[in-house]
Amino acid sequence: MLSITQYREAFLEYLETAVTLKEPVNLYEPISYILHLGGKRLRPVLVLMSAEVFESSFKKALSASLAIEVFHNFSLVHDDIMDDAPLRRGKATVHERWDVNTGILSGDAMLIYSYQLLENYDGPIFKELLQLFNSTAMRVCEGQQYDVDFATQDDVEIKDYLKMIEYKTAVLVAAALQMGAIIAETTPQNKQAMYEFGRLLGIAFQLQDDYLDAFGDPETFGKQVGGDIIENKKTFLYLTALQMADAVEARQLEHLYSINPGEATAKIEAVKQIFENSGASLRAREEIKKYTNKAFEALEELDIPEDRKALLRDFGQDLMNREV
Ligand code: IPE
Ligand code: IPE
Ligand code: MG
Ligand code: MG
Ligand code: MG
Repeated sequence: MLSITQYREAFLEYLETAVTLKEPVNLYEPISYILHLGGKRLRPVLVLMSAEVFESSFKKALSASLAIEVFHNFSLVHDDIMDDAPLRRGKATVHERWDVNTGILSGDAMLIYSYQLLENYDGPIFKELLQLFNSTAMRVCEGQQYDVDFATQDDVEIKDYLKMIEYKTAVLVAAALQMGAIIAETTPQNKQAMYEFGRLLGIAFQLQDDYLDAFGDPETFGKQVGGDIIENKKTFLYLTALQMADAVEARQLEHLYSINPGEATAKIEAVKQIFENSGASLRAREEIKKYTNKAFEALEELDIPEDRKALLRDFGQDLMNREV
């Protein structure tokens, strides 16, 4: 097996050959822009790693890895429109740099392109990949809708939030790992265990993303820090703070989440203070650890050598410690 860095490099090399500029440029330029903005490339690396964990070659998994990364970037282009986000990976979002219509259509084309990449497989592998891709993509849409609905819904509970992040984020991480397993033609048990590992890791990953959205370093995070607070997103931090804060601070937090000031710096600072004072930010850190450890437990179900499990564990550990 290769190192995580080597899988990323192999993926980037493939991306360079596959994603080129075509006419009409107003459709393809934004696609090339977002795909070349960088990013951690977690999902494609997971596809490649997973294929090799089960004794296949990462080369067979390159098309699937690009399909997942293109789908992910499509979902970000549309998500940034929905979240009114100005920054992505430290640069202007597609709808900011061009306009909303450009973001919609380039996003649509990316979704189609991700399916085209799956045409490189055939037979039972193609069918299994397609079924997984379809059910995952639909789930992501459901998750995105819950995310939007929750911003204006009063009775959101932590279990609702956990389901929402499982749908919008974790299932794609799970699918990345399972796609590698499908391409390697491993056992149904191994495919299932990989999915479960990804699902739990994906939940930890989104909890961490929500934590960094409030407490990340604007220099490294690459997105607008406080964006979720501006949008009144009912994250784990918010829902936990409501439960843990004293009555006065809880009411103040609800009030802050009912206003939409043009200049949001004071609101963001006040909300973050309540997240800290209430102990919610500490609880969020614990919850990230909890889900990461649950993910590691799922690795026990995999029938693979111990050193390969260790590689997957290292990957999970790195995610938990990330700042971007
Ligand atoms: C961002 O995903 C969207 C979430 C699901 C949190 P990543 O944090 O993987 O984004 P990039 O691709 O590395 O920029
Ligand atoms: C993103 O969730 C999930 C999808 C794009 C499907 P967020 O809205 O939290 O992601 P960021 O913070 O914009 O990356
Ligand atoms: Mg967003
Ligand atoms: Mg969003
Ligand atoms: Mg976010």
